[in-house]
Amino acid sequence: METLLDTQRRLKSLLLMYLLVVNAAGDCPKPEGGNNTVLTNESLLKNVFPENIMVTLECSSGYIKESGSEFITCINDQWTESELICKKKDCGQPPPKPHMKFDTSEGTLFGALVKVTCEKGYQISGPSYKECYDQGWSGRASCEIVACDKPAIANGNTSWDSGDDPEYNNTIRYTCHEGYTLIGSDTVVCDETGEYSPDQPVCNEVTRAPATTSRSQVAITDLTTTDAKVSTFSDSSAAPTVHRTQTVTTSSIPNLSTLPKGMHDGNVNTATDSGTVAAVVIGAVVLLGVIIGFFLLHKFNMRRKGSHGISPL
Ligand SMILES: *[C@@H]1O[C@H](CO)[C@@H](O)[C@H](O)[C@H]1NC(C)=O
Ligand SMILES: *[C@@H]1O[C@H](CO)[C@@H](O)[C@H](O)[C@H]1NC(C)=O
Ligand SMILES: *[C@@H]1O[C@H](CO)[C@@H](O)[C@H](O)[C@H]1NC(C)=O
Ligand SMILES: *[C@@H]1O[C@H](CO)[C@@H](O)[C@H](O)[C@H]1NC(C)=O
Ligand SMILES: *[C@@H]1O[C@H](CO)[C@@H](O)[C@H](O)[C@H]1NC(C)=O
Repeated sequence: METLLDTQRRLKSLLLMYLLVVNAAGDCPKPEGGNNTVLTNESLLKNVFPENIMVTLECSSGYIKESGSEFITCINDQWTESELICKKKDCGQPPPKPHMKFDTSEGTLFGALVKVTCEKGYQISGPSYKECYDQGWSGRASCEIVACDKPAIANGNTSWDSGDDPEYNNTIRYTCHEGYTLIGSDTVVCDETGEYSPDQPVCNEVTRAPATTSRSQVAITDLTTTDAKVSTFSDSSAAPTVHRTQTVTTSSIPNLSTLPKGMHDGNVNTATDSGTVAAVVIGAVVLLGVIIGFFLLHKFNMRRKGSHGISPL
């Protein structure tokens, strides 16, 4: 009986000692952070939280204090309610960069993503998104102007004489060397995709009937060449006769419908042309007649010689 009472007494005293030790160690449990709040590093290092002790809370990373006290106190084994209210930090508009645009439809608060784009003719270099972090916007993008490959044309020249590549909006002009004709546009622009618009032209060797020009155009050229050359050259009175074999480039072909305007001299020329033809034909006929006449006369004379001996001449 005695031993049982002893044991009970000993257990009681052990319990009392335990309670005393625990009480001495601290009244409150280790505190925890709340919504968007954390314990300060200093508070985290503490292990014992006796009655009336105060610990400090702070806003989590990416948050800033909106209102309330940072302190909670241990009273009657319990922490007082935290009053600290934190809100997301606002990164604001991303810092402007040349030719750069931002889509901030998602906002500019902590964690928000902003899409980065460049103006027309510029391309992004670097990440195309920025994120609002505790330290500010992430990403170091820039907008570089779009460039085209250096222009090139075989058997011709371009107006581009810079060592750098042409950039967006730069205009290039092309010319062909002597004996070549330009097919395509003689002026192109470096567009926003880094291509030439329209495509770069080519220089084709001039032939009597270039495959790339329409046949009707060629027909007109051939028909008008002689008259046109005669009329234009006769003004300078240098060469009234022009060979049709002379090389004629498309650009020097006179507009058919504009021809009559400059023909006050040309009309005379065409008239003399047809006159000459007629004269030649008539001359040929006359000459033929004369030759036949002489031939007949000669024959007649021979016959006379044969029948009457030597003529009085
Ligand atoms: C945290 O916020 C949620 C809703 O925003 C709320 O229901 C909860 O009670 C808050 N907790 C604390 C500890 O404040
Ligand atoms: C708290 O400690 C963590 C890691 O131990 C450190 O990254 C952080 O910067 C500290 N905070 C402050 C406010 O000193
Ligand atoms: C084309 O370029 C060549 C060599 O660069 C030059 O000699 C020539 O004069 C140029 N021709 C034209 C029409 O620009
Ligand atoms: C490119 O040309 C267009 C049209 O001429 C003009 O509106 C634009 O400002 C130019 N852009 C640049 C970067 O030169
Ligand atoms: C030719 O001239 C007429 C009137 O002078 C003009 O309407 C037409 O566009 C011209 N054609 C060409 C191909 O130059």
